[in-house]
Amino acid sequence: MSNFVSSSIGKKFFMSITGFFLMMFLSVHLTVNLLLIFDDTGVLFNQGAHFMATNPIIKIVEPLLAIGFLMHMIYAAYLTLMNQKARPVSYNKVDQSEASTWASRNMFVLGTLITIFLVLHIMNFYWKLKVTENPYPAVLIGGIEMEDTYSLVGGLFRTSLVYALIYIAGAVFLGIHLTHGFWSAFQTMGWSGNIWRKRIELVGKVFAILIAVGFSIIPLYFIIRF
Ligand code: HEM
Repeated sequence: MSNFVSSSIGKKFFMSITGFFLMMFLSVHLTVNLLLIFDDTGVLFNQGAHFMATNPIIKIVEPLLAIGFLMHMIYAAYLTLMNQKARPVSYNKVDQSEASTWASRNMFVLGTLITIFLVLHIMNFYWKLKVTENPYPAVLIGGIEMEDTYSLVGGLFRTSLVYALIYIAGAVFLGIHLTHGFWSAFQTMGWSGNIWRKRIELVGKVFAILIAVGFSIIPLYFIIRF
């Protein structure tokens, strides 16, 4: 097992399996978050957020998600360091722009920017909901008392243009990271024969655009609408 983990394919395998897991999380997270812009009363989004916060299956998945995020980040840092050690003369000195995309050459930089975004993001919402206190009082929907997550999210974007722009930047970095990450995860799993390569690349680009545009629309909506 330890041989596999330290082998080149083992390292890539861990990056891609945790990457797949994160892509599934992002799809669910975006779907729930889009409820923010479909109902200005906040009822739909508050119900969605309440379901996600109380559902027993999600409660099991949440710590796994945290471990997945951490493994993906720690492994990426480790791999980048190892690659630099093994390659003292930087490839950057050679023009690689023909052979690879900008995203593929800057996965670590993009990942670091996304991690910085994520720390701010967790402090904005998760921390206030789970650790300190939501400044907005709880609401009663269908006889159930729940957190007013809608006002927490909407309040941030309505009052802080800086944060709204940080969220748009985070979504764009994530999208660029995924243009390479999606394809790369499939390639590592061996699902990328000649016929499938172009198709997976295309699906990856569509997924990356959906994630970047989908997450950006939310702060944009609050800036323009309110
Ligand atoms: C407009 C953009 C976004 C909004 C409005 C948003 C909203 C939220 C909210 C309200 C929570 C707290 C949920 C709860 O604990 O009840 C949360 C948690 C979280 N978000 Fe986001 N999010 C956005 C973008 C992102 C992006 C781009 C990522 C990934 C890079 C992300 C990753 C997470 C993670 C890891 C958590 C903690 C786990 C969880 O509670 O599910 N979010 N988000």
